[in-house]
Amino acid sequence: MIEAGVHPLAASTTRRSDERIDTVRRRWHFRHPLVIRAAHWINLACLAVLLMSGLQIFNAHPALYWGSASTFDAPLLAITNDETAEGAARGIVRVGDHAIDTTGWLGLSTAQGQSTGRAFPAWITLPANQDLATGRRWHFLFAWAFVINGLIYLIYGIESGQLRRRIVPRRDEVRHLGASIREHLTLTFPKGDEAKRYNVLQTLTYLVVIVLLLPMMLLTGLAMSPGFNAVLPLPTLFGGRQSARTIHFIVTNLLVLFTLVHVALVLVSGAWNNMRGMVTGWFVIETTRTSDPGKTFDPGTIR
Ligand code: HEM
Repeated sequence: MIEAGVHPLAASTTRRSDERIDTVRRRWHFRHPLVIRAAHWINLACLAVLLMSGLQIFNAHPALYWGSASTFDAPLLAITNDETAEGAARGIVRVGDHAIDTTGWLGLSTAQGQSTGRAFPAWITLPANQDLATGRRWHFLFAWAFVINGLIYLIYGIESGQLRRRIVPRRDEVRHLGASIREHLTLTFPKGDEAKRYNVLQTLTYLVVIVLLLPMMLLTGLAMSPGFNAVLPLPTLFGGRQSARTIHFIVTNLLVLFTLVHVALVLVSGAWNNMRGMVTGWFVIETTRTSDPGKTFDPGTIR
């Protein structure tokens, strides 16, 4: 019988050295509806522009503070440059009393063949040259696109039940979290029917990103807007506008970290299949059946 959204693709057999035969069946499985796919890629474009224009804005004052107790003289973190004892320029990141040499990356980098003193290098900021006003325009335009896209994803996900089905882990799945972490560490990924759903580590990570990190980006962003604060006193929620800015920066870094790990896992767990899934919706599921010619074939033995 052919399930809805699933149809057979192909089967191949391999004779093993012990005379048993592995039959691998491949079936198409419809994994991602159009709205989810579109929202995912629009979100990626928005976050890329928000990251690059955000770093441009950060460069205008490359230091972070906490609460109302901090002063300009004692930032939590500062990206700056100074001179070594030998008189050579160097880029440094100061975290409290510690100074880390980051020459070439942060504080001092090369742009158009020239060594330039700036917090984040030109290749990662939007625009590339130091231009706060243009950076803010990009940032606020794409912040609205990010919010509208996120709302469409959430409304569709809740209305259609997709969000609950695909992102909220079931109780029995949460019990297998330890096993799922071990599988990820050994790069063993589910096959067969188990591969139809995200595994529990995936669902929990996506849940944290969707219900915690992305909304935190929005709220801490709004907490920095004087116009918005006239209506809603958001800075008090985060212990002041400087703390909101610091949290905004930390969450940005967590999202970058998430994206790097996410893309690495997409690549190692079947780059082509995963990408086709998120572009066209269709994903291939593999099941392996092992038959032993010495015994009567048992159709239940699917690994
Ligand atoms: C180049 C960057 C990215 C690539 C190549 C990529 C690729 C993918 C792919 C292939 C899937 C489907 C995984 C599967 O079917 O098992 C997926 C799902 C997902 N990705 Fe990404 N992704 C990228 C960036 C991001 C970013 C920046 C975010 C958010 C911060 C994100 C959040 C998610 C979420 C939440 C899902 C699950 C969506 C759902 O099922 O509703 N991704 N991604």
